[in-house]
Amino acid sequence: MPSQQPNSQKQGSHKAESKKQGFSTRAIHAGQEPEPATGAVNVPIYASSTYVQEEIGKHKGYEYSRVSNPTRDRLETNLAALEGGVSSKVFASGMAAINAVASMLKSGDHIIAGHNLYGGTPRLFNQVLANFGLTFTYVNTSDLKTVERAFQKNTRLVFLETPTNPLMELCDLRAICEISHQHSAEVVVDNTFMSPFFQRPIEFGADMVVHSTTKFLNGHSDGLGGVVVCTKPEQAERLAFLQKAAGAIMSPFECWLILRGVKTLAVRMLQHDSNGRKVAEFLSKHRKVEKVFYPGLPDHPQHKLAKRQMSGFGSMISFETGSLSNANKMLRKVRVCSLAESLGGVETLISHPATMTHAALGEEGRRKIGITDGMVRISVGIEDVEDIIADLDQALAAI
Ligand SMILES: Cc1ncc(COP(=O)(O)O)c(C=O)c1O
Repeated sequence: MPSQQPNSQKQGSHKAESKKQGFSTRAIHAGQEPEPATGAVNVPIYASSTYVQEEIGKHKGYEYSRVSNPTRDRLETNLAALEGGVSSKVFASGMAAINAVASMLKSGDHIIAGHNLYGGTPRLFNQVLANFGLTFTYVNTSDLKTVERAFQKNTRLVFLETPTNPLMELCDLRAICEISHQHSAEVVVDNTFMSPFFQRPIEFGADMVVHSTTKFLNGHSDGLGGVVVCTKPEQAERLAFLQKAAGAIMSPFECWLILRGVKTLAVRMLQHDSNGRKVAEFLSKHRKVEKVFYPGLPDHPQHKLAKRQMSGFGSMISFETGSLSNANKMLRKVRVCSLAESLGGVETLISHPATMTHAALGEEGRRKIGITDGMVRISVGIEDVEDIIADLDQALAAI
C-alpha cells in the first residue's frame, strides 16, 4: 500500500506556487486566501444577485451571479487545485454537473459509459439525453477489450466511475485513457467515491473529473452540489458558458459550505478509510454476510489495481445479505447507522441500492449487472468504529 498521504509532488495544481504545497495546505488555502477588504480568514458568502457598474461596461469583473460570483470563483479555484486541473466549474448538484458535461456534446455523438454507474446517471442519459440524439453504450469498464470494442466513429466521450456504485468494481484509468485518446475520445471520471484525496484521475490521463460535491468534498450531508474539473481552458470556457446559458449554478451559500468542508477533507478521508477497512473486515468474517465488496480486501478481484491507482480504499462497502427480506430485517434495526440515500458524510449512512439509488435501472437492468435485492451499501462515517461495528452486529442478528 502506498502511503495514505497523496504525493503532492505528482499533482498538478491551479497555481504554480501551490504546486509545491501538500494536499491539506491546498485544501485549506487554495482559493481561500483572506478576504482583502476586511482580512476575514473565511471566504464571505457573497449573497448578491447583481453588481453595481460605474458606467456602461465598467465593473469589477462581476455583473450577474448566474454568470459569476466571488464565492463561487473561490470554490472553483480550490477544487481545481485539489484534482490537479486547470480550472473547475461548479453546478447545483452532481447531476447538474454531469448534465453540463453531456451538454458539451451534440446530437449524433456517442458516449461509452460504465454499466454500473450511480443509477441517476443512466437515468439522465437514457430518459433525457437520448431524446436529444445522444447515443450510449454501457460496458463493463473493468474489461479493457470490451471497452475497446465499444468505440464507434462518433464516440466522443467515455464516462467512468471507479470504484463503481454499488459493486465496487475498478477500471484501469491509465489504460482506458490511452485507448480512448487513440480513438480521439475524451475521458470523464466521476470521482465522487474516492475524492481527490485518494484518487486523482487527471494524473492517469483523464480529460475531466466530476464529483457530486454533496458527498465527501462537502462531507457533512448539509448541501447539494456538483463540480466539473477541466484540463483544458476551452473546456472551462464551454462550461462557463453552460453555467450562464442553462443556469444550473451552485448557490453562494452552498459554495461556502464546500469551502468549509474541504478544509478537513484529508483528516476526514483518513478516518473514513481507517473505519472502512475495519468494518469491511468485520463484515467479511460475519456468518450472516454472504459476500463483501470492498477494494481494500485482499480477495477483491482488483485489489492490486486499487493499491496502484488509489492511495486509500475509502469507506464505501457493499455486502450481500441473501434476500430483500434479510436486508429489510437488518436495515430496520440499525441505530448508529442511518438508513438513508447518499454517502460521504461524517455520519454512517446505510442504504438499499435495489430500491433506492438503483431503482431507476429496473429489475432486469439490476440483474444484468449483479445488483441483488439482498445487497446493502454502507458509507462508513467517522464515528468511533467500535460503535459502528456493534450496531451492524446487533442489526445482522435480526436476520
Ligand atoms: C457517484 C455519484 N455520482 C453522482 C451523483 C449525483 O449527485 P447529486 O445527488 O449531487 O446530484 C451521486 C449521488 O448519489 C453519486 O453517488
